[in-house]
This record gives sequence, structure tokens and C-alpha cells, in this order.
Amino acid sequence: MNTPAKPTLFTCVSPALLHLYDVQDAIVVVIDVFRATSTIAAALYNGAEKIIPVDSVQGAIELGEELGAITAGERDGKIAEGLQHGNSPLEYPREFITGKTLVLTTTNGTRLLHMALKNGATEVITGSFANLSAVCDHLVKSGKNVVLGCAAWKDRVNMEDTLFAGAVVSRVRQHFQVFCDASLGAETLYSHARIDTWNFVKKTTHYHRLSAYGLEKDMQWCISADIANVLPVYRDGALVVHS
Ligand code: MLT
Repeated sequence: MNTPAKPTLFTCVSPALLHLYDVQDAIVVVIDVFRATSTIAAALYNGAEKIIPVDSVQGAIELGEELGAITAGERDGKIAEGLQHGNSPLEYPREFITGKTLVLTTTNGTRLLHMALKNGATEVITGSFANLSAVCDHLVKSGKNVVLGCAAWKDRVNMEDTLFAGAVVSRVRQHFQVFCDASLGAETLYSHARIDTWNFVKKTTHYHRLSAYGLEKDMQWCISADIANVLPVYRDGALVVHS
């Protein structure tokens, strides 16, 4: 008897390359370690009812008003004008966010999520070091094809998202066919950087951007594994905790 073929796993290192991958027949993991998908994990872990990802600031303001929800997000790393909160995981502790709806718009993370939906993705989850185990467990259990989608920075490849993709590949690889050089590269990067992740990410462009705003604490939080270990899934227009 033939053993059934394993599902495939690909890593897409920039939204500009998303059209090369079959997102319709896969679970798409949207990855934006600094900081959108880390913030999403934090808010849901701390009891947010749902997070509505929106691709424009104006859209977020209007929807926030309509729903009486919290509006949040950034452009170029800074809280965007007209929104109530920023894109920091530390801004959403339990006592503030429990039971609330967050309308979130960010430069790259929510943009990639909308691109994946436009390209026909039907199963979208979000991943970051904060929920590494929840993501890996889900991918292995589901037995479906996977596209690890890095939000990057305005289409330019970034290290922190590729690093997280590498962490996922190294954990789940025996369950998938990994015939993808981007995945191999990400895994190699992770095996090199995992020894001293903090000093490694300090070399990245987004570290420099965010540290100029005094956001080092955010980034330390964002590279800590499993500190908000929930699985955010996109369902009926919002990210909610997978049940
Ligand atoms: C993004 O979506 O590009 C980011 O989350 C930017 C940030 O706030 O660090």
C-alpha cells in the first residue's frame, strides 16, 4: 500500500511574491513578528472578543465608530492619526481588552492578510513567536498544505518574519514535503539566530525603526516564544481564537 503524500509547505518571504503560491488550497499563516501578529496574539490571549483587520486608516476609523470598537494601528511604526491606540502588544493587557472588539490597521500585517483573502485564501491564521506552539500544533494536526506568508516591510524581505517562518519549518518539517528554497533558507537562518535571537534582531531594519521610538520592550516581547499561545483564525471578517 502506498503511503499518502505529505502536504506541502512553502514560505513566501514577501507579499510581492504571494501570487506565486496557491493560497486557495492551503492554510495561510500571516506573519508579522514586529508587531501586528504579535499584537493580535496578545489581544486575543488577553480576552479580546475579536480583532477586525482593516486595510486603511479611514476604514478603521469609520468601522470603529459604527461598532463602538477600539481603533488601533500604525503607519510606519507610529500610531496613525485618528486611531485611539497603537500596534503594541503591551497596550492590550487583560484589564483593558477583555470582551472588547479591536479594529486594527497596520502597514504590512493587515495588508498581507487582505491580499491573501483577495487571492482566494479560505483559511487564514496569524503567527508570531508569541503563539509559535499553537500555530505549529494546528498545522500538524490539520494535515493541509501550508503557505507561510511573511508580511515583510513594504514588500522588502525582512529578517524577523523569515526567522519565524524558519522556526515553524524546523518544528514541523517531518510532517510536510518541504520542496522550497525559501523555507530551507528560513530554517538555516533560524538555526543560526536562535542561539542569540535578541542580538540577531537588533541588526534588522525594523528594529532600528522601532527603537527610534523607544519600543525595545515591544520587540523583546515579540521574540519571546509562547507567551500568548492562542491560535487566531480569520472567521466571518474577524480574527478570533480558534475553538
Ligand atoms: C506592520 O504591520 O507593518 C507592523 O506591525 C508595523 C509595526 O507596528 O511595527
